[in-house]
Amino acid sequence: MKRTFYITTPIYYPSGQLHLGHAYTTITGDVIKKYHQQLGEEVFYLTGSDEHGQKIEEKAIEKGISPQEYVDYIVISFKQLWSDLEIDYDKFIRTTDKNHIIQVQEIFEYLLKNDDIYLDEYIGLYCISCESYYTETQAIENRCPDCNKKLEKLKEECYFFRCSKYIDRLQQHLKDNPKFIQPESRKNEIEKNFLEKGVSDLAVSRTNFKWGIKVPSNPKHVIYVWIDALTNYITALGYGTNDKLFKENWPADIQLVGKEITRFHVIYWPMILMALNLELPKQIFAHGWLLMDKDKMSKSKGNVIYPEFLIEEYGLDTIRYYLMREVQFGMDGMFTPESYINRINNDLVNDLGNLVNRTMVMVNKYFNGTVQKQNISNDYCEKIKLNIINLEKQYHINFKEFGFTKVLQNAWEMIGLTNKLIDETKPWILFKEGNLIILEEVLYTLLSSIETIGKYIAPILTKSSKLIVEQLGIKNKKCLFNIETNNKYNISKQPEMLFLRLDVKLETEKIQKKMEQQKKEAQQKLKLK
Ligand code: MSP
Repeated sequence: MKRTFYITTPIYYPSGQLHLGHAYTTITGDVIKKYHQQLGEEVFYLTGSDEHGQKIEEKAIEKGISPQEYVDYIVISFKQLWSDLEIDYDKFIRTTDKNHIIQVQEIFEYLLKNDDIYLDEYIGLYCISCESYYTETQAIENRCPDCNKKLEKLKEECYFFRCSKYIDRLQQHLKDNPKFIQPESRKNEIEKNFLEKGVSDLAVSRTNFKWGIKVPSNPKHVIYVWIDALTNYITALGYGTNDKLFKENWPADIQLVGKEITRFHVIYWPMILMALNLELPKQIFAHGWLLMDKDKMSKSKGNVIYPEFLIEEYGLDTIRYYLMREVQFGMDGMFTPESYINRINNDLVNDLGNLVNRTMVMVNKYFNGTVQKQNISNDYCEKIKLNIINLEKQYHINFKEFGFTKVLQNAWEMIGLTNKLIDETKPWILFKEGNLIILEEVLYTLLSSIETIGKYIAPILTKSSKLIVEQLGIKNKKCLFNIETNNKYNISKQPEMLFLRLDVKLETEKIQKKMEQQKKEAQQKLKLK
C-alpha cells in the first residue's frame, strides 16, 4: 500500500526567528526530497511548528499578548523563511491545528485506557527549556543532560507513560535494525548515556501552566509538550481521520532531528508507536550542529546568521552548496563568513561557473551553438565518458547514505576532469588546425559532461542545475536520472553566468558587520527585559 517516501523535520519552537542552524535541517530534508523525486519516486515532506508549552506561554506574557496571537505571528515568519529558501514541503503542521489537538487527545485517552499511561505523583528535577524531568543520575551538577541549563526541583500530580513495558522491545528493535539510529556514533551515545542507565517511566502531563492540549478526562492536566509534538508526524498524515493518506506514507522513511533531541525520537517516540500498534520509522538521522566560532549557533548566544540576508546577497544555491559541502552530515560543522565567500569564489565561480561559461562560448563561437556526437574515438573524451559511468554509481551510493559532502566532492572531481579536458585538447588549436570533427567531439563531450554534472548537483544546487539544463537547450527539463546524455545539443546563444566573483575581504566584512549588528540588537533586547 505504501507508495511514498516520507521525510520529516523536527517541528520548530516559535520562540523567535529561525536562523541558519534551523534552516540547515529543513534544507537537508528538501535536498533528500529532490533526490528521491529525481529517482521518480513520490515524496511527502513534512515540517511545522511546535507551539505549546511553558516557554511559549512565558514569551507571550512577556509581550502582553495571548499565546495564540504570539504563535500566529511567529509562524508567519517561519513560512516566509521556507518560502524564501524555496523549501518544497508538502505539509506544514501546527500543533495548534484543530485536527492535531483532537487526535492528540484521542491518543492520550487511548493510552490511558490501555494502561500505558497512569496517574501518580512526581517529585523531580525539571528543565523548563526542554520541558522535561530528569533523575539525579542524569542530572550531573544539577544541569540538564540535553541542554545543560540549570534544573528546578518540582512536585506535582502527573500522568506517566509506562516505558518499562516497552524497553525490551525497543532494545530488540535496535539490535534487529542496526541502521535505525544514524549516525553510528549517536546510537552509541544513546546506548551508553540513556539505555544502559535505565529508562524510567516518562512524566507526560503538567499542571503548572495552561498553554497546551488538555487531558480530556482530567482537564487540569496539560499533555506533555513532547507527546503533543512527536505525534505530529502521524497526525499530519491524518492518523485517525484519513486512513488512505496515513497508509500511503507511514512509516516514515527518514526522520531528521538535531543531536540534542535524539533521545526523544529514538526512545520515547518508538515506545509511543509501539503502544499505538504502529510500525516504527525506518530511520532516524540525528545530525550535528552548525557552529559559529566553535559554539552552537543560537539566538541566546547572539552568534547567529539569518538566511534571508545571505539569500538576498549571494543567492540560494550558495547557501545550499555551503551547508551540504562544508558540514559532514551527522557531524558538527562550522559557518565562517570567510570560508563561505571562498567556497563561492573557488568552487562555484572558478570551477563550475567557469567550466559552463567557457564551454558555451566555444560551442557558440566554433559551431554557432549546435554540436553533435561524432563517431570517432578520442582518448581524452573516452576518459571522461568512463568517469561519467563511475561517478553515477558513486552518486547513488553516497546519496542513499546521506553523504552529501561526498556527492559534491565527486561532482567537483568531474568538474575538474572536464576543465582539464579543455586544457589538454586545446579546442582553439583544433579549430585553428581545421580538426573540426575532433573539435566537435570534444565540445560534445564537454556538454554531455556538463549535463551529467547538472544532474549530479540538481538536488542541492537547484537553481544552477536548472540554468544549466536551460542553457544546454534540453527540452525535457525534468532532469530525471538517466545515464544517457543527449546526442545533439543546441545551446543558448547568450548564456548567463551562473555565479559572480566576489571580493573576499569586502564581503567577509559585510557579513561580519551584519552579524555584529544582529548581536547588538539581541543584547539590546536582553537589556530591555
Ligand atoms: N520543538 C522541538 C522539536 C520537536 S520535534 C517533534 C525543538 N525545536 S527547536 O526549534 O528548538 O529546534 C528544532 C531543530 O533545530 C532541532 O533539531 C535542533 O537541533 C535544530 N537546530 C537549532 N539550532 C541548530 C544549530 N545551530 N545547528 C543545527 N541544528 C540546529 O527542539
